[in-house]
Amino acid sequence: MEKLVVGVIGLAMGAMHLKGAIEGGAEIALICDTNPEKLKKVGDEQGIPEERRTENWLDIVNNKEINTVIIATPDQQHREQIEALLEAGKNIMCEKPLALTREDINAIVKAVSSHPECKFMIGQICRFTPSFVKAKELIEAGRLGELYYVESEYAHDYLHLYEENPGNWRQDPIRHGVVGGGCHAVDLLRWLVGENPSEVFAYGTHKLLTEHISYDDATLSIMKFPGNVMGKVFVSTGCKRSYTMRTCIYGTKGTIIMDNTSPTLDFYEADENGHVASSNPQVIDVSVNNHNAIREFASFQDSLLNGTPITMTVEEGAKTVAACLAIVESSERGGAIVYPDYDFTK
Ligand SMILES: NC(=O)c1ccc[n+]([C@@H]2O[C@H](COP(=O)([O-])OP(=O)(O)OC[C@H]3O[C@@H](n4cnc5c(N)ncnc54)[C@H](O)[C@@H]3O)[C@@H](O)[C@H]2O)c1
Repeated sequence: MEKLVVGVIGLAMGAMHLKGAIEGGAEIALICDTNPEKLKKVGDEQGIPEERRTENWLDIVNNKEINTVIIATPDQQHREQIEALLEAGKNIMCEKPLALTREDINAIVKAVSSHPECKFMIGQICRFTPSFVKAKELIEAGRLGELYYVESEYAHDYLHLYEENPGNWRQDPIRHGVVGGGCHAVDLLRWLVGENPSEVFAYGTHKLLTEHISYDDATLSIMKFPGNVMGKVFVSTGCKRSYTMRTCIYGTKGTIIMDNTSPTLDFYEADENGHVASSNPQVIDVSVNNHNAIREFASFQDSLLNGTPITMTVEEGAKTVAACLAIVESSERGGAIVYPDYDFTK
């Protein structure tokens, strides 16, 4: 492929991806939103002519010029759109979570593997967050030794979303906060450890968004990774604080304490005798960019134009959802141990 000719479906998160595509030099063939005001606003802001705007996503499916599509619609729609776009031969970058149900993730994995001519990337954007990228580099360089405990949290107050837009798609009982938003923290730990949690147990509470959602607004899960690595994820979608993904990574030689909203990352490193000499960590500067859509799109573009491997494959997206569904199941069963199922062929 010589040039990306792009369509974007859904223009809230999709507007960030649109900027990434424009910055990367892609041709924008069509942008789509069912909300005409959103379509006009984003189209005007990004200088997309009116003939390149549509309210019907099927226009993107049927457009023969388009070779690459960004899906940034509500999670419930991802499966239908992925399946139709694959049938039309499009490469796809789809926002997280891949989907919300076991049935849908299995179907999507099957559909993508049935279309090897199309490349697919799941948009787990935390893998491009500068602090998390730095942590991954330190882990891979062996600076933390062997990991033994990792924790992350997704704390994000959705109250304003529900108040401003009652009946929001995020209130659908099928969209549990652990899958919808908590998937960021689960995916981050899977990526940093380089393994999938083999067992989980979880508890949930529902004290904050009682009038707005029928499922828990806070969930705590403990997980076990292969190699005897322990993990913890806390998800709160009603928390009374600003958005954060505080994350700690403990290894036999060092410890990282970070937050995707902080401009620094704290790194404690032991000397050859295993001692941390100072109570002060190394403070490493990182830029704050927890929606690094430009870097994310650039990665997909590189795969399409230069053949670099896609690391955020459909299976990666499915594994993250599978682990999240296991957490939800455990919390609904009062903390029973659940073994996530990573076989998507059933
Ligand atoms: N990576 C992240 O950090 C991040 C952050 C927020 C949302 N998301 C994900 O991005 C996706 C979109 O979330 P959002 O926050 O942008 O939601 P949103 O509700 O703010 O915006 C969705 C947009 O899609 C439009 N839309 C809905 N159905 C459509 C259709 N069939 N065709 C065309 N347009 C349609 C809506 O009018 C709206 O403008 C979801 O999958 C969500 O989970 C990811």
